[in-house]
Amino acid sequence: MPDFLLNPHLDRARPYGPELQAILSLAGAREARATIREWQGYAPTPLRSMPALAREAGVAEILYKDEGKRFTLRSFKALGGAYAVDRLVAKSGREGLTVTCATDGNHGRAVAWGARRAGIRAVIYVHEGVSEGRAEAIRSYGAEVVREGFNYDASVRASAEAAARNGWQIVSDTSWPGYEDVPRDVMQGYATLAMEVEEQGGKPTHVFVQGGVGGIAAAVLSYRWEKFGSSRPKMIVVEPENAACLLASARAGTITNVTGDLETIIAGLACGEPSILAWTILDPGADAFLTVTDDDAAAAMRRLAEEGVVGGESGVAGLAGFRQVCGHPEWRAALGIDATSRILFYGTEGATDPAVYTAIVGRTPEEVEG
Ligand SMILES: Cc1ncc(COP(=O)(O)O)c(C=O)c1O
Repeated sequence: MPDFLLNPHLDRARPYGPELQAILSLAGAREARATIREWQGYAPTPLRSMPALAREAGVAEILYKDEGKRFTLRSFKALGGAYAVDRLVAKSGREGLTVTCATDGNHGRAVAWGARRAGIRAVIYVHEGVSEGRAEAIRSYGAEVVREGFNYDASVRASAEAAARNGWQIVSDTSWPGYEDVPRDVMQGYATLAMEVEEQGGKPTHVFVQGGVGGIAAAVLSYRWEKFGSSRPKMIVVEPENAACLLASARAGTITNVTGDLETIIAGLACGEPSILAWTILDPGADAFLTVTDDDAAAAMRRLAEEGVVGGESGVAGLAGFRQVCGHPEWRAALGIDATSRILFYGTEGATDPAVYTAIVGRTPEEVEG
């Protein structure tokens, strides 16, 4: 059953002040962008207009930022993990540096890729539910892969313990008390997405973005909040129904973990513990929270495939959430979505596991893209 919550703590009039700028800022976003645009192979990913989907939904425009085309990694995560590795190397040098992290797949691939670019060692922790295809993709960038923990949050702890034992540097995409600098860099790298959309002429009224630990949602929100204040677009955070820690936190009025095996095909969002830094921004700034089921995600992948666009299970969660909203007139009205609305989705991954993609869509990514 999908769940929907207008953020009870939203304070749209609140300025994006120094306490938030200390986490993420326009200045930090510009600095990250300046570094990333120097990386070999960098190019903005396509911002695709989808008129058929817009007509179907009765809105003015639908835009889909296609991160399946991000470097060779097929996900936006490259912008965060690899940027944080760059910053670490700049601060502490390459000598004896080993980086580690836990991952559902995409972040580990980004850290492994960044480590290979920097010429340092990476040891990446995956939990029991991560597909072998995703583990293999991490190894293909020269990283060692360790399988430990029954879910993402358990593998985060396993990598942190190994780092403490071995003197490695953790490059996590989530933050916890006392560990904030690196995840701040990771999120600051993600803000590049919002900058690119702006340069590509995207002027959304509503942004649907998926939430794992909340990093990307906080990054794209912070950029527009600092720049446009209360006239920024509405931000709707979409999570899988059994890993909806951000919605649970908003409902409880305090940061709240969800536990269990977090089983979902929407693997990149199977996180039960919000990032503290991300939550500090989302709590007062996100407009609404929404959950989707595995079936919703699979249906969104197939609908996107009809448009010739490849979106992975986690990449389409925003679109899946929007389709849910369209099926619930009261939610649609609560978000002020009408015929003049311009909806932006961050399609955060392509077919990051082609075998899984093909099983769900019934065609290979290559067949879909023609
Ligand atoms: C494809 C994809 N989209 C979205 C997310 C969510 O990002 P975050 O954990 O920063 O909320 C992830 C996280 O791994 C992901 O892999």
